[in-house]
Amino acid sequence: MPAASLRIERDYTIGTVDPRLYGGFAEHLGRCIYEGIWEPDHPTADAHGFRGDVLALVRELDLPVMRYPGGNFVSGYSWEDGVGPREQRPVRQELAWKSREPNWVGTNEFVDWCRLAGTAPMLAVNLGTRGPEDARRLVEYCNHPSGTQLSDLRRSHGWEQPHGVKLWCLGNEMDGPWQMGHKTAQEYGRAACEAAKLMKWTDPSLELVVCGSSHRGMPTFGHWEREVLDHTFDQVEYVSIHTYLGNQAGDTASFLAKPDAMGRFIDEVVATVDHVAACRRSRKRIQLSFDEWNVWYHSHDDRRQRRIEDWAIAPPILEDHYNVEDALVVGGMLIELLNHCDRVKIACLAQVVNVIAPILTARGGAAWRQTIFHPLAQASRWARGEVLRGLLRCPTYDCAEQAGTPLLTAAAVLDPASGEVTVLALHRGLTEPLTLRIDARGCGDLQPIAAWVLRDDDLLAVNTAAQPDRVAPQPAALPVSQDGLLQVELPPASWNVLRFRR
Ligand code: AHR
Repeated sequence: MPAASLRIERDYTIGTVDPRLYGGFAEHLGRCIYEGIWEPDHPTADAHGFRGDVLALVRELDLPVMRYPGGNFVSGYSWEDGVGPREQRPVRQELAWKSREPNWVGTNEFVDWCRLAGTAPMLAVNLGTRGPEDARRLVEYCNHPSGTQLSDLRRSHGWEQPHGVKLWCLGNEMDGPWQMGHKTAQEYGRAACEAAKLMKWTDPSLELVVCGSSHRGMPTFGHWEREVLDHTFDQVEYVSIHTYLGNQAGDTASFLAKPDAMGRFIDEVVATVDHVAACRRSRKRIQLSFDEWNVWYHSHDDRRQRRIEDWAIAPPILEDHYNVEDALVVGGMLIELLNHCDRVKIACLAQVVNVIAPILTARGGAAWRQTIFHPLAQASRWARGEVLRGLLRCPTYDCAEQAGTPLLTAAAVLDPASGEVTVLALHRGLTEPLTLRIDARGCGDLQPIAAWVLRDDDLLAVNTAAQPDRVAPQPAALPVSQDGLLQVELPPASWNVLRFRR
């Protein structure tokens, strides 16, 4: 049986996990908002129309920030359409997703939902078809207490207190030709700089995220970040970064190797933004907001295959039904985020419900946890604190994605308050178990307190309304002490959570 070793020391840390690493994302897209978050005639809906069953599952994930309202949607959005009396709101042709947008939910309702879900809104402004002045007006509407036209408009709409939204995105994926109002780096850099200035003059407490590259394969990647930051370096705190992984080729060994590329992408973006800082002789460090990440490929062909009608309200688009191997990859992506927590301060799983999401709903019916729900819920619950710089030794395997892929990928997180250590480990071998020996002598006398494993003989198994818990973590055998090390056997193709207490 192959064996791996992981050595951790109390004082060798990568950084502290910013809780916002466990963020989510809700876009006006498909059935995310309507039939996901809001469905007034659902049996669990509250007086505002919010589904109680979905709220309970979102609370279980404990996501400290939620990005809204897009995504591609935001680049054609007029926020004014979504405020004021609901019966007066316009129904619009929504060009990003070829749907009809009824504006039944807008900024105020979303902020209310966030409070109920125990999360904080992270709002994006439209720098596609609109610009700095509209962005500034939205900040005034949301955050100014009273006594100005737009703050008093908010009050007249029934929200007396300012929303106090701190975190804002300056547009979305502006480097992509698919984006409404797509711009060159020069055009976007200028617009983002002016928007940022006006937004911060309106509310100096804001933190701003400027658009980086939509993905690593963009032809402008690297140059885009440099040029955009040449314009916005002094105005922003974060640069955004997005990645979606998929198994289009049906090659599981390669799919499981893909999260490592996410880590390399982060390193490249860090190098690029620090290059801009160096050119300016600046000690300021632009941090990363990984505000869209997930597995996404099952639904790529949906519009054609499922004959989804154009210009429908809340059509069932981008509804990936996630299987076991998707959950393993999401686990691997979480490990990469944790092991880069010194520079990635915000990350949003895209998205939260129905649209490439950990939660699925049936209209008028159940809400259930998809397979990918579980690694996120476990990491969000247990992997908070200081990430330890583990020394991992393990055999490798070759696959089309990457020769020499380590069989194991892992992150170890210490909660300084309790002294508890959580190890998240993805075993990517498909046939044999792996022996993992953890040398935690540098962390004191660690005793195993709990272990869970997510695996299945059928890597394509999914959860459904009829079988919502078909795939879920199961309690596993605790590591045993042997020669001063903690030893455990990890089954093939498994996501493992091991918890220890001093
Ligand atoms: O999350 C789905 C879409 O993916 C978003 O709208 C867009 O930003 C990205 O391309």
